[in-house]
Amino acid sequence: MMILGIETSCDETGIALYEGSSNKIIFEALYSQAEKHNLYGGVVPELAARDHINRLLPLLKNKLDEEKIQINEIEAIAYTNGPGLRGPLMVGAGFANALSYSLDIPSIPIHHMEAHLIMAKFDSPQLDYPYVSLLVSGGHTLIVKVLSAEQYKVIGQTRDDAVGEAFDKTAKLLNLGYPGGPQIEKRALLSEDKYPFSFPRPMINSNDLDFSFSGLKTSVLYKVNDLKKENNLSENVINDIAHEFQNAAVDCLIEKTLRACHVEKSKSLVLSGGVAANKYLRKKLEEKKGNIKLYYPDLKHCTDNGLMIAFAGYQKIKQGRKNYFIEVTPRWSLENV
Ligand code: KG4
Ligand code: ZN
Repeated sequence: MMILGIETSCDETGIALYEGSSNKIIFEALYSQAEKHNLYGGVVPELAARDHINRLLPLLKNKLDEEKIQINEIEAIAYTNGPGLRGPLMVGAGFANALSYSLDIPSIPIHHMEAHLIMAKFDSPQLDYPYVSLLVSGGHTLIVKVLSAEQYKVIGQTRDDAVGEAFDKTAKLLNLGYPGGPQIEKRALLSEDKYPFSFPRPMINSNDLDFSFSGLKTSVLYKVNDLKKENNLSENVINDIAHEFQNAAVDCLIEKTLRACHVEKSKSLVLSGGVAANKYLRKKLEEKKGNIKLYYPDLKHCTDNGLMIAFAGYQKIKQGRKNYFIEVTPRWSLENV
């Protein structure tokens, strides 16, 4: 079955055509608005929505032409229905539903985080339930026990900022641009670790599976303010701050994630979401995982993309889900407008 995935929850316009029965990507395309939002140090929802409107149709048309595929070869559409930014979500949902009506094919609403969570199965179909997943993105930091298809139990989460948000805010403090995660990772690699920075690892020893990242970000803020006053915020110092910030964030993620595997007696661990693209996090987990088997999507499928939505849509179809919907209001009192 040929299923088109559409992702517009934030600032990436992602599409992919996926052939489910052979697990094959027919095409995928991503238009990143990062440069546009970089000017503002973060995503501006209204700009993001307008840009999705401009990009979606050309992106799809170009790919269909390039691959010589007729639009009526598409057999179903999956689109991100939430969570995310309202305007950008509405653009994707409107586009998907209009296309589904005109082609007379199903349109399947997808939970963005569920799509991240199950994407590791695209490369590793042998991954078996139950498993534990560290689901880390710009808006979420969750440890999830995946019991079976569609049965998720959140067993740990952040009490304040998401870890991706902490990466982004720290990068903004250091003037490294948006999105911050890849910038911090790059600068950490350049660090010679000369300056003895030490940032806290909040909640690392707490007797639960939760996280807290706002204090870590605030310690960087205080340090940066002091260094600016002393006129000491050189490029080398920035590299060292990025290095220690990344170490602190990764230490917290690894401690609680491995504890979760231990508590749940899970032999499989899945890394998912944008922060799962961080190579230092992957390396450290590989070093410390013991006999736990580690799975993750390839780098480009960790951050937002159309394929994860198409892949999730295909799983829904395979599970026989029929509740594809467009919300309308058949009974609607005039007194309730
Ligand atoms: O999953 P994603 O693309 O979008 C959301 O659903 O939020 O995740 C984006 C987040 C951003 O906060 C970004 O800075 C972070 O993932 N990120 C990274 C890396 N690549 C993306 N964080 C750390 N290291 C990376 N290499
Ligand atoms: Zn995402």
